Formats: sequence, C-alpha cells, structure tokens
Amino acid sequence: MEFTLQLKDAKSRVILEKNAHLHLKDYLDLNSKVMVISDDHIPSTLKKKVMDQIENGILVEVVQGEDAKSFPVYEMLLKKLLEHEFSRKDLVIALGGGVIGDLSGFVASTYKRGCRFASIPTTTLSQIDSSIGGKVAINMNGIKNCVGNFYHPEVVIVDTQTLHTLPKRHFYNGLVEALKAGCIQDEKLFDLFKKHAHELNVDSIYLEEIIERSLLMKKRIVEQDEKEQNLRKILNFGHTLGHALESLHLNEYYHGECVGNGMILIEEDEKIRKDLKGILKRMQIPMIHENDVEKMMECIRNDKKAKDDEIDIIQVRKIGSAEIVKIKTEDLKKILEGGLL
Ligand SMILES: NC(=O)c1ccc[n+]([C@@H]2O[C@H](COP(=O)([O-])OP(=O)(O)OC[C@H]3O[C@@H](n4cnc5c(N)ncnc54)[C@H](O)[C@@H]3O)[C@@H](O)[C@H]2O)c1
Ligand SMILES: [Zn+2]
Repeated sequence: MEFTLQLKDAKSRVILEKNAHLHLKDYLDLNSKVMVISDDHIPSTLKKKVMDQIENGILVEVVQGEDAKSFPVYEMLLKKLLEHEFSRKDLVIALGGGVIGDLSGFVASTYKRGCRFASIPTTTLSQIDSSIGGKVAINMNGIKNCVGNFYHPEVVIVDTQTLHTLPKRHFYNGLVEALKAGCIQDEKLFDLFKKHAHELNVDSIYLEEIIERSLLMKKRIVEQDEKEQNLRKILNFGHTLGHALESLHLNEYYHGECVGNGMILIEEDEKIRKDLKGILKRMQIPMIHENDVEKMMECIRNDKKAKDDEIDIIQVRKIGSAEIVKIKTEDLKKILEGGLL
C-alpha cells in the first residue's frame, strides 16, 4: 500500500510494504551523497542491509535515547554534513525510532536551509505516528521539542519486518498512538483493539491494518491543518496529561505509556474509560501512580497549549469522534484530583 501526504508546499510519499527496506532504490533516488543517521541500539544487521544498497553512503550513529535530541548532537551532525561537503541536493535518511526521526529531520530542515530528507522508521511509534506530519525537533532546557520545525520527508518507508528486534515494551508503547487514532477518528480501528489487544505482536495479521488505518487518519487531519491551527489539535487526545506525566517521569515511562494513562485520566465517559483501561492492561501498559496534582498542574501550565487560566483539551464522547473543549485550569485540576487520588 502507498499514499501521498499532500501539503501546501511539500509532499511525502508513504510506502507501507513488507521488506521495502531491502529495495530502497525502488522508492528513493540514491544518486547523491547520502547520510544515514541511526542509533547504537538499532541492530547492526539492519544498518548493514540499508548501507549495502547505498553507493555514496555515510552512516552516523548516535547514542540511543531522548538525550540525542540535543544541541551537541545536532551540531555534531551538521558538522559531519559540512565535513563531507553535502549540498542541499544531497540526502539525509533517518533509520530508527521517533528520536532519530525528530533529530534527523531537524538537521535536514536547517542544513543550508534544508536538504533532502527521507525516513525509515523502525519502531511502532514512528511507523504509526511520528514519521509523518512534519514535526521535527530537539529538546532544550529539559523542555521537549522546544526547538523545531515543520519539515516533511520526501519518502517514508514503513516496513513491519524491521520490528522483529524491537523490545516488546516499545512495541506496545507505539500501539497506544494507534489506539488514540481509533478513539478520535476510527471506530473500526478501536474495535480491532477491543477484540485483539491481547494477541497483538509483530506477526499479527492485524498489525498492517492497524498501522495503515492510523497513517491514513493522520494524513486526513494533517492535510486539512498542517500547522495545528485547529483540527490537528485532536491528535493530542490524552497528550496534555500524558506530557505532564512524561515530564515527571522522564526516562521511567515512555511516551505512549504516558499518553495511555493521559487518555484514561481525561476521558469523561465511564464506558469508554473502562474499555480503554481493559485494552491498555491487555497491552501491558503500566498504570502510572502519580498523586502530585500540583506538580502535574505546573507542567500543564508550562505546556505550550495552556493559555492564561484556560486550556484546550480533547474529549472523546463517542468512539470515532473528538471535540476540542476549552476548560478552566482549575476544573482540570479537579478532574486530576478525582482521577489520581
Ligand atoms: N514528530 C512527531 O510527530 C512525534 C510524535 C510522537 C513522538 N515523537 C517523538 O518520538 C520519540 C520517541 O520515539 P520512539 O518511541 O520510537 O523511541 P526511540 O526512537 O528512542 O526508540 C526506542 C528504542 O528502541 C530502539 N530501537 C528502534 N528501532 C529498533 C529495532 N527495530 N530493533 C531494536 N531496537 C530498536 C532504539 O534504539 C531505542 O532504544 C520522542 O522523542 C517523541 O517526542 C515525535
Ligand atoms: Zn504522541
């Protein structure tokens, strides 16, 4: 399956195909200098398979983890591009998860005001969500994605065969973004989780459909509202509280795990909340026991989505449709006090 994400000034060709990473030339023009950016936990066999297809390829590996989204690593990568005399017509490929995608995309977007960029996502989170939509960023002063850009890869190669080596916890972590996609836009996707959450793994016959439905949902939203003026905000279901949990438990819980907990905390409808809890439990998503409401509120106020004493939150009153609701921060605090304690 393939589709094109069509934006005002850019487009991304998205390929969802088993073993596509073994024939890159079918999708990507590799007749230029190519820098592949990856991390030290991505299996070396995967890196070798990719590099063997690229004549003028340079592989640069960074230390895995969120800390790679930093100024020193960003600068090191820019210097490598300069050292190898890359021009704007040369290509940067992200080979890894969301960290590598965000970092490499930001490098590509700023090097000489933007060079070519493509992505081979290797985690469920990046295949389902982060590799499309154009958000690229690094962190600063402990604030996630504080410095960033919108920059779309020309090609995204989503190949579930690359997921075989992904640790199980990361596998389920990424699936939470697909569950979110089901909640806000796609009832059938939600039903897939309701029926099959306990048996999902890399060989599941439902995995490709889950990824495809999630990507197509994001395509529909981002094409209508690329820069998150309004509609795109619905992708943040579970994220306001999720981000706060993530900041309070950095390096302890992953993004999807925090978003899963955030969805449960914010969801008003009892039946939906019960279903969500059941699904997350079957996907072995940990329940986060955080009872410091004040600290949570501090994170939420610092978050870019909070304005004065009001905040936009996303509410799902019926599976498959989401609403942007303005609520007072003091009311959000009450919800938290009810949910956390
Ligand atoms: N740009 C966006 O729209 C967007 C959306 C959501 C999240 N994000 C960002 O994504 C990041 C999280 O991404 P992630 O969850 O993919 O984490 P990650 O990139 O840190 O990858 C998780 C771990 O899995 C390892 N790994 C990756 N692929 C592997 C494979 N095939 N086999 C074995 N190990 C593998 C990595 O080395 C790493 O240790 C965060 O920085 C978050 O802010 C961005
Ligand atoms: Zn997310």
